[in-house]
Amino acid sequence: MTSLTRKAFGSGFQLGVATSSYQIEGAATEGGRTPSIWDEFAHRPGTIKDGSHGDVACDHYHRLDEDLGLLAWLGVDAYRFSIAWPRVLPNGRGKVNAQGLDFYERLVDGLLERGIAPAATLYHWDLPAALPGGWLERDTTQAFAEYADACAARLGDRVALWLTHNEPWCQAFLGYQTGMFAPGHRDFGEALLCAHHLLLSHGLAVEALRARTRSPVGIALNFMPAHAATGSAEDAAAARLQDGYFNRWFLEPVLGRGYPADMVERYGSAMPAVSDADLRVIAAPIEVMGVNYYERAVVAHDAGDALLGVRRIADTGLPRTADREIYARGLHELCTRLYREYGIQRLVITENGAAFPDTVAADGSIADAGRVAFLGEHLAEVLRAREDGVPIEAYFAWSLLDNFEWSEGYTLRYGIFHVDFATQRRSPKDSAKLLKTLGRRG
Ligand code: FCB
Repeated sequence: MTSLTRKAFGSGFQLGVATSSYQIEGAATEGGRTPSIWDEFAHRPGTIKDGSHGDVACDHYHRLDEDLGLLAWLGVDAYRFSIAWPRVLPNGRGKVNAQGLDFYERLVDGLLERGIAPAATLYHWDLPAALPGGWLERDTTQAFAEYADACAARLGDRVALWLTHNEPWCQAFLGYQTGMFAPGHRDFGEALLCAHHLLLSHGLAVEALRARTRSPVGIALNFMPAHAATGSAEDAAAARLQDGYFNRWFLEPVLGRGYPADMVERYGSAMPAVSDADLRVIAAPIEVMGVNYYERAVVAHDAGDALLGVRRIADTGLPRTADREIYARGLHELCTRLYREYGIQRLVITENGAAFPDTVAADGSIADAGRVAFLGEHLAEVLRAREDGVPIEAYFAWSLLDNFEWSEGYTLRYGIFHVDFATQRRSPKDSAKLLKTLGRRG
């Protein structure tokens, strides 16, 4: 880890941190914002582990200047945030709420004044509840293009990197197959329909952004390398299916390869109708592939699983964070594959990070050795991949702040800054100090 210096990454490399709107902003009913599907979902009893919601979260909406100060202190090159669609278009489409965009303009200009490149994600799961039918309705794809246009009309070239969706897999499959995320449905056919509409809306948004900005455009997909539990042919086939379900389902259509044929066959009548025209829209050229990486999946064949015949082995004996196994090498493996097998020329690690049960010492310090090691090991894999010629341009740690961790509520802390949710006090953990030493002023 001694080799982990800023210099080792080269001058063009960007180090950043990431957040998302619903997880940090709060101010749920202010500035003309209307409810998103996450407001509705979190307020439904039994959906969130600790019964919490994002009404206040980190109160970032009211503490923008303070949080810009944290970013400046870190000396990061870039900051990835998401825009809340219900702030910008309270009805989902139609009339633009200028006040909503004012907030993001203050953020973007505040970043630029501090020499930090803004990376904006349009959709990190907070769909306006006002849109009838949500992602099951094809019309929502047009609404998303309108929303992309409104954001880029105001913020265009000032945003250095535009990302359409964050982890559409989670929105589609956790939102519509397992019911773990908003809107909490449990229907595999709906999940596939949602996935298709997310992809279509991505393509439409890319076109809309193109008309307004010269900045690079991409999408942030979440990937989990799939490994077979044993050397058996059955387990190898299971790993391939897991890969199709999780990784290839979004990647391949975006890259113009259409939906993976093996999975389409497997899904049979659950598949929605997909026209060639839709596939052409989805394949709109993008400059950057955003990579969210947290873990791998080790899987075995299991005839008892009706959909894929796959069983995930949750514990393979590796060291763990609060919620998953640690497998840093997977980041190198994944990026190498995206470059060599898929020919992707510009990769950005849009998320990577870890939750640990941090303790605040009497003097206020937070010695999060686990997170420091996690970030260090993953950055070392990024470095190793770059040295192997894999074009990784930037790395965003998840997350700037402890925040509302979706269905886990506030029980998982992913921040490099600790947040005391009673006082909203932010305190740097040792991991924040690590990033600061790798930052421009470190
Ligand atoms: C990712 C999400 C992000 C956060 C991290 C821990 O899947 O994109 O919002 O929840 O996991």
